[in-house]
Amino acid sequence: MTSTPQLLLNVNGLDTFYGRSQVLFGLTLSVARGESMALLGRNGAGKSTTMKSIMRILPARRGTVQAMGRDVERLRPDQVANLGLGYVPEDRQIFKLQTVEGNLRLGMKRGPEGQDEWPLERLYGLFPLLAEARGKSAGLLSGGQQQMLAIARALAGNPELLLLDEPSEGLAPVIMDQIQALILQLRAQGVTLLVAEQNMRFCMEIASSVAVVDHGGIVFTGSLQEFRNNPEVASRYLAV
Ligand SMILES: Nc1ncnc2c1ncn2[C@@H]1O[C@H](COP(=O)(O)OP(=O)(O)OP(=O)(O)O)[C@@H](O)[C@H]1O
Ligand SMILES: [Mg+2]
Repeated sequence: MTSTPQLLLNVNGLDTFYGRSQVLFGLTLSVARGESMALLGRNGAGKSTTMKSIMRILPARRGTVQAMGRDVERLRPDQVANLGLGYVPEDRQIFKLQTVEGNLRLGMKRGPEGQDEWPLERLYGLFPLLAEARGKSAGLLSGGQQQMLAIARALAGNPELLLLDEPSEGLAPVIMDQIQALILQLRAQGVTLLVAEQNMRFCMEIASSVAVVDHGGIVFTGSLQEFRNNPEVASRYLAV
């Protein structure tokens, strides 16, 4: 038996505001170890805000977040990351003037249990395009390569759970397929994932479970199969 909790993320009743404007209304979801959850919702539904509240970049005004069984209340975003959450924001935030390898080195840290599972060689094995471009300025990479770099940099921090905010956004279909294949590989290697997406098709290949967010609240959760068995959920809440 391990003492590590099986629920890596437990989000309960989040109310989050931008100033006086409330955008999350009692949002609740949880992610278990080994799960690959798609957080689906239309433009403006509250996906990014959910991730920002989890990371305490935009703390919720009410509700609780537990990561690895620990309450994140009062933590700074870097301290939340140190609990074992890797976060790739919508805008990727790579360091454009640094080299590819420089970006990866900046992301390197041990995991919460001292894990050192993602040395450079393993990252380069998974992302051969980054290996080829290791000495290049990150700002010169294509959009797809920058997305790969952002994911690789998050992995370099040995997260227990990886949060990806719209990894398919702005990418050409062929590049989207590459990112999808990569996420599948991560899943096969046991990485636990929470992936926010508008693009339902992108997620149907990579998710084991689905949570649908609409107007700042969860309106559906279930396995991928349950989601497929209820097509009215997609037609009602997603742009299909
Ligand atoms: N900085 C901000 N200030 C005020 N309101 C904001 C801000 N960012 C987002 N919002 C509003 O909060 C709501 C939720 O936005 P959020 O970015 O979480 O949506 P999303 O599901 O990530 O959408 P998208 O698919 O466009 O990324 C929207 O109504 C949006 O207009
Ligand atoms: Mg968003």
